[in-house]
Amino acid sequence: MFERLELISADAILSLMAAFRADPDPRKVDLGVGVYRDERGETPIPAAVRTAESALLARQTTKTYVGPAGNLGFNAEVARLVLGAEHEALVTERVRAIQCPGGCGALRLGAELIHYASPDSVVHVSDPTWVNHVPLLSGSGLRLERYPYYDAATGGVRFAEMAAALERLPPRAVVLLHASCHNPTGADLSQGEWRELLSLVKRRQLLPFIDMAYQGLGEGLEADAFGLRLFTAELPEVLFAVSCSKNFGLYRERTGALGVVCDTAAQADAAMSQLVRLARGLWSMPPDHGAAIVHGVLTDAALRAQWLEELDTMRKRVQGLRREVVRALAEHCPRRDFSFIARHHGMFSLFGISTAQVRELRAQHHVYMVDDSRMNVAGLRRENLEYFARSVGAVLAGGAGG
Ligand code: LMR
Repeated sequence: MFERLELISADAILSLMAAFRADPDPRKVDLGVGVYRDERGETPIPAAVRTAESALLARQTTKTYVGPAGNLGFNAEVARLVLGAEHEALVTERVRAIQCPGGCGALRLGAELIHYASPDSVVHVSDPTWVNHVPLLSGSGLRLERYPYYDAATGGVRFAEMAAALERLPPRAVVLLHASCHNPTGADLSQGEWRELLSLVKRRQLLPFIDMAYQGLGEGLEADAFGLRLFTAELPEVLFAVSCSKNFGLYRERTGALGVVCDTAAQADAAMSQLVRLARGLWSMPPDHGAAIVHGVLTDAALRAQWLEELDTMRKRVQGLRREVVRALAEHCPRRDFSFIARHHGMFSLFGISTAQVRELRAQHHVYMVDDSRMNVAGLRRENLEYFARSVGAVLAGGAGG
């Protein structure tokens, strides 16, 4: 059977990770995979997370199963973190959360629920969207289509075109939205656009599926949740996928949750029972460690405060880097306007150079970004910022094919 399988290469982000690791050049700059990096180029474990982890190891007496819904305390805390403790959907018990292996697991589980409830549903994703959205969602059997999103000319969102496309969708079509820190573009919806989108989604009876992978890394913990909180309060049904990879630094612990919001508490119970059944068939039970740590951080006042401070530091570093890189690029590439990078949120910006130029940057200057020119701004640091801008200047001046 397996003799018929073809050898394929990993997706754009995974291949880039491998290429960067294999590059021995000391000047190499990793702007590829979306992990936060500090000024030393490291991806630290936040001190609050480390403390909660040590306490967990000290008190844990068993590794027996937790259950298909995972850590119930974690589920409750994550829902409160994302929605805000007093949110209407929590007060009226219209929301349920289920722990998943990372945000990826949550996206897949959400897609499986939609497929089970309505197998012909189409999921509409932004153009462009995170490369892994496609296999994660379509692997459930759902069909995917794209709606216009990014405007490369302005570095902003083509909101009018996006709204016009969504306006044409039939009732019950699913729309995947990025809560904040859009991956790969960095261009987010404004609060006004979220409000406009809400009335459209209501009028057209669409089902929003909101991916929340970077809460706290855009404009702040509360601001980054604006759209999700608004939709959840105003709509009868919403799905949301949460990742704790970036904001808790728990990447490899695969910690996330899927939230489902229904019209009534009874419907939410029914949806949750289906999610438990689907999860049991996918991974049976999620890994416990990361979720137990997050629960420990969020339920201890001192650790929570410490984590919030650490998250603020991460966000401010990325915001500062955005301003710095715009300045350095203005100096080394004076004929090109990169000021949109300072208007973007989170770790990514779609840099806007051609694939040939991206590859030349990689081959000649050891600067790694994804072929579509997505750059992880957090990979820059004082030490390599000028080198990066100079390298871009050299590639743009050389005129590598576009
Ligand atoms: C990214 O977008 O680089 C991250 O979310 C890591 C991944 O799995 O692709």
